Amino acid sequence: MTLFHSKKKSTAGTGDFNRLPRHIAIIMDGNGRWAQRRGLPRTAGHAAGAEAFRTIATYCRDIGLPYLTVYAFSTENWSRPPEEVAAIMRLLEKYLAEAIEKMERENMRLRILGDLTPLAPEFRDLVTRTNRISETLHDFQANICLNYGGRDEILKAASVFASECLEGKRSPSSLTPELFSSYLTTAGLPDPDLIIRPSGEIRVSNFLLWQSAYAEYYFTDTLWPDFGKEELNRAIADFQGRSRRFGGI
Ligand code: IPE
Ligand code: IPE
Ligand code: MG
Repeated sequence: MTLFHSKKKSTAGTGDFNRLPRHIAIIMDGNGRWAQRRGLPRTAGHAAGAEAFRTIATYCRDIGLPYLTVYAFSTENWSRPPEEVAAIMRLLEKYLAEAIEKMERENMRLRILGDLTPLAPEFRDLVTRTNRISETLHDFQANICLNYGGRDEILKAASVFASECLEGKRSPSSLTPELFSSYLTTAGLPDPDLIIRPSGEIRVSNFLLWQSAYAEYYFTDTLWPDFGKEELNRAIADFQGRSRRFGGI
């Protein structure tokens, strides 16, 4: 298996560090099944999934990956039982409150992507504080997609662009893929090179629909709480073996 040169620590072994993807995105799926297989409530799976995220985010920073984006809660996940939704929100809030304390020390920028309007004011305040701290940091960036949906994001971008056209600030003929990207919640981020989906599901579930136009996918049966550094190394090695042609030959 290919291992990678670690930028800051020597925990990752040796390998082709220069050919790391710039941006990895992960659909953090399989928390519920992980818990059910252990006879635990689904919420225990979400807590274990939050731990897996901590491990993977730290590892990505250590190997020198610039951007990691994870799907934590989709616009469709509101259809789950209210107790499960509340438990996921509590976990995310706890994660952010803890992260705020150590982002600077750990040199980790954090951004929350998605429609935050339905969140409680205290939660939104945490997001604002996180974003403010992130502005002062420069290395690794982790993005957490929360109340995120690819279609929702595209519709909102289209609506803002249309309004600006009506106001005379933009003209329809000026629209290019680059300009459209700047209206998305991921504005300023490079498109993901590699999208990983654990848990055995082979679908996109409304994740980064616009941004994934030329992403490489990696699917694994491993459930997200069991997804560790070794599995990430396998996904990266697999990615490095692919031929990306972007429509060329
Ligand atoms: C992913 O795990 C977490 C969220 C969607 C919030 P799931 O909760 O979807 O776990 P499974 O797919 O039911 O196992
Ligand atoms: C996708 O997982 C959303 C997140 C991981 C946040 P889901 O479990 O919601 O997706 P489906 O229902 O299997 O498509
Ligand atoms: Mg799921």
